[in-house]
Amino acid sequence: MGAQWGDEGKGKIVDLFADKFDIVVRYQGGHNAGHTVHIGEKKFILKLIPSGILRPGKMAVIGNGVVIDPEALLTEIDTLEVAGIDVTGQLVISNRAHVVLPSHRMLEKLSQAIGTTSRGIGPSYEDKVARRGIRIADLLDTETFRARYDALVEEKDAIARALGIYQATDLAAIRSRYEDFSRRIRPLVRDTARLLNEAIRDGQQVLFEGAQGTMLDIDHGTYPFVTSSSATAGGACTGTGVPPTRIDCIIGVAKAYITRVGSGPFPTEALDALGDHLRTRGKEFGSVTGRPRRCGWFDAPLLRYTAMVNGIDSLVVTKLDVLDELEKVPVCVTYRKGRAEVKEIPATSGGIEELEPVYECLPGWLSSTAGVTRYEELPPRAKDYLKFMEVQTGVEIGCISTGPERKQTIICPGSSFEQWWQTGLKRISRQ
Ligand code: IMP
Repeated sequence: MGAQWGDEGKGKIVDLFADKFDIVVRYQGGHNAGHTVHIGEKKFILKLIPSGILRPGKMAVIGNGVVIDPEALLTEIDTLEVAGIDVTGQLVISNRAHVVLPSHRMLEKLSQAIGTTSRGIGPSYEDKVARRGIRIADLLDTETFRARYDALVEEKDAIARALGIYQATDLAAIRSRYEDFSRRIRPLVRDTARLLNEAIRDGQQVLFEGAQGTMLDIDHGTYPFVTSSSATAGGACTGTGVPPTRIDCIIGVAKAYITRVGSGPFPTEALDALGDHLRTRGKEFGSVTGRPRRCGWFDAPLLRYTAMVNGIDSLVVTKLDVLDELEKVPVCVTYRKGRAEVKEIPATSGGIEELEPVYECLPGWLSSTAGVTRYEELPPRAKDYLKFMEVQTGVEIGCISTGPERKQTIICPGSSFEQWWQTGLKRISRQ
């Protein structure tokens, strides 16, 4: 799962891990997520389908906690199939996942204040919680779908008219598009909670793939500048129907610096030339919306918080090579407000805005770490930086990503992560 504001590089990591698992399952979010995976010359951007789909023979599951836009899903399926991936042979969709409808996209025009991805994700979760949403199981039943859809559209149109954003829609055309969709996905739909629990009972390995990041979590993130689902580890249980007692370990993914897309508080944002340097070197542009990402320095107090709410056992650090050319690398070690040290992340975005980050500047290593695969080959100052991150966050760094390719990865010697990785993914030994 993402230990910052999303875009930590989970796509590559999940793809890397997927080799050792039988099933990969997404548990929250929708096609607001963008997971980029490079395999040789090919680049895949997955939005809804779990990254495990890129490993032949692995099952990829979309859990009940995800919201599915049928058009986005079909486009993704078609693109992957053209690339030779057996999507229909590997993909399974929960009958309890909610459906994103055109009216959700229309209504999202109202919520642009926080800079959402405009994919209708929030409005779809709103309908889920208001108990008027349409689920995949409803979609498969033409009569139920028509009745529920017509009632929903009537209500949405009334709101849109009142707000002056109404756009006439061809109801019959939309219904028939969704009925076509229902025909195409029917063979993929299952009770995935049952499927996953039975797989675990039978000794199969299941990888839960988070989307977005902890600081965008609806409960624990920088509310209201958050997404509308549970991006923390707990979401893996509610979003799949697999109980907490069946989850063996939690791996957090964090960049060696930090980014965020959209509005909201960001204590360590670098609004200067160094921030631009991170953006250019790190190619920090949104994979879904193309928006430039806001860039800043590694925030240890924030990571301590996300490690706490997720119970992170081991951390994967990505994009270390983006820092290679810096003479000094600032790391936020604590926050201050006036003269007082602030140890807790404030609950309000206004409270976070008032924080003043306190930095320690570490010497840069001024040499390339790109593509390094052995910890011993890292420059000593890069190792010092990583050790500093460990001490400041209190979380072990078990794995380091040094480039977009699968092989550009270091498994840290002597870590509990290494033990977990080498001994067939038994429960990680917790410190
Ligand atoms: P929504 O998820 O489209 O409702 O957008 C809510 C907030 O989450 C916005 O600030 C988005 O930029 C952000 N967001 C949503 N998905 C992602 C993601 O995959 N990576 C980074 N930010 C995201």
